[in-house]
Amino acid sequence: MKKAVVRLVITGNPGVGKHTSAQIVARELKAEIIDINRVALDNGAVLEKTGKGIEIDTKKASKIVASMLNKKKKSSFVIVGHLAPYVVKPAGIDMVAVLRRSPRKLEESLLERKYIQEKINENVSAEILGISLYDSIKAFGKRKVAEFDTSGKTPEQTAEEIVATVQKEKPRRSGSVDWLAVISEEEVQRYFAY
Ligand SMILES: Nc1ncnc2c1ncn2[C@@H]1O[C@H](COP(=O)(O)OP(=O)(O)OP(=O)(O)O)[C@@H](O)[C@H]1O
Ligand SMILES: [Mg+2]
Repeated sequence: MKKAVVRLVITGNPGVGKHTSAQIVARELKAEIIDINRVALDNGAVLEKTGKGIEIDTKKASKIVASMLNKKKKSSFVIVGHLAPYVVKPAGIDMVAVLRRSPRKLEESLLERKYIQEKINENVSAEILGISLYDSIKAFGKRKVAEFDTSGKTPEQTAEEIVATVQKEKPRRSGSVDWLAVISEEEVQRYFAY
């Protein structure tokens, strides 16, 4: 039996493919997208804007997201954002999809966005350390967290895997991605030199 109402979180480092796959997932599940960054910006939940980006007021954003979810109890939602572990409350969430991407592929995505090298290294090293996964498990509990490696996959394939997993056709797995095992010592040195 497929779930009629789905509350799914899609998180992971910037550039791993959250928004691209979330669009497809939301269409499939007939769900509304809540983009945490968008919601924070539209509601003044911003602490400061720096040259490196915006700093979101996670406390304020958390209250806004909770009230959006509360208002439509019978609707499906896909909540997207790298800040999800610090903004979304675990109650009522069915699954948290943490998207992962290999350091080299992630660097390519971020170079395409014209990020400066310091910001690229910051994001790639966070991905190598698996901070997003660790923080998601801490916030939502291991049972709700599923990890998806987007490297070498199309956004459609990633979206299909997420939909199948949230519908419980597939078990939720996390902890199998280990970038340290696949990159060289030199690369580690390079990404962590900031
Ligand atoms: N399997 C995949 N799933 C999703 N996106 C992918 C995949 N493979 C490649 N991409 C590409 O990765 C790029 C980055 O995706 P996207 O902008 O969705 O990242 P994001 O995680 O939303 O980043 P941010 O947190 O900064 O908003 C896009 O160009 C997208 O097409
Ligand atoms: Mg995005």
